[in-house]
Amino acid sequence: MDDTLDKISNLYSHNLTEHGDQSKAVGWPTADSQELRFEKLTQVIPEMDDSFSVNDYGCGYGAHLEYLLQKQYSVAGYNGYDLSEEMLSKSKERLKDFDGDLTLINSSKISTVADFTFVSGTFNVRFDSSYKKWKQFIEETLTMINESSNLGFSFNLLSKYVDWEEPHLFYGDPCYWFDYCKVNFSKQVSLLHDYPLYEWTVLVRK
Ligand SMILES: C[S@@+](CC[C@H](N)C(=O)[O-])C[C@H]1O[C@@H](n2cnc3c(N)ncnc32)[C@H](O)[C@@H]1O
Repeated sequence: MDDTLDKISNLYSHNLTEHGDQSKAVGWPTADSQELRFEKLTQVIPEMDDSFSVNDYGCGYGAHLEYLLQKQYSVAGYNGYDLSEEMLSKSKERLKDFDGDLTLINSSKISTVADFTFVSGTFNVRFDSSYKKWKQFIEETLTMINESSNLGFSFNLLSKYVDWEEPHLFYGDPCYWFDYCKVNFSKQVSLLHDYPLYEWTVLVRK
């Protein structure tokens, strides 16, 4: 698994050099589609007056925090995790005016507890790791995410409901992952598969 994570880190560092800090560098063809993903993931947050903290697992250059601030969410703390040091440097630069607690961590292991955790696109690339191994990696990572999220978390995966699959990507069966979250993490689980991307989002509220 370490070998695959190294390749993923190199891929995204390379993409950042090639495209600069825009959506293409994190695998999204357009900024609109990146934002649509954030919109879906953010639905895990109920209407609340209090400020909250966030873990962003695979934060890229920090665009999800920028989205939350632009939408006037009151974010007290943001912990961005990424395998790519270059992505984290770019996050640090872009998020320098954030007036909450900013922590950027170069690791795939979560060491902070937050109110909500978001995962956008982080599980998509598996390179030559087998389907079975990657599925197990996602399950273990979701368990870690569940343990470090007080109020809930949300994640997206490419959908099994596609006509064509790229050999190095992971496509998730939404029914399997809905059930997995319902059985293992919480009674309050939503599956969103009604938006115009070849993906779905699961929201887990506690
Ligand atoms: C598809 S990009 C999305 C970035 C960001 N979530 C966004 O939507 O703008 C995935 C990011 O996750 C990072 N990543 C992939 N696997 C990771 C892991 N296991 N732990 C931490 N970061 C990871 C990659 O380096 C990359 O920057």
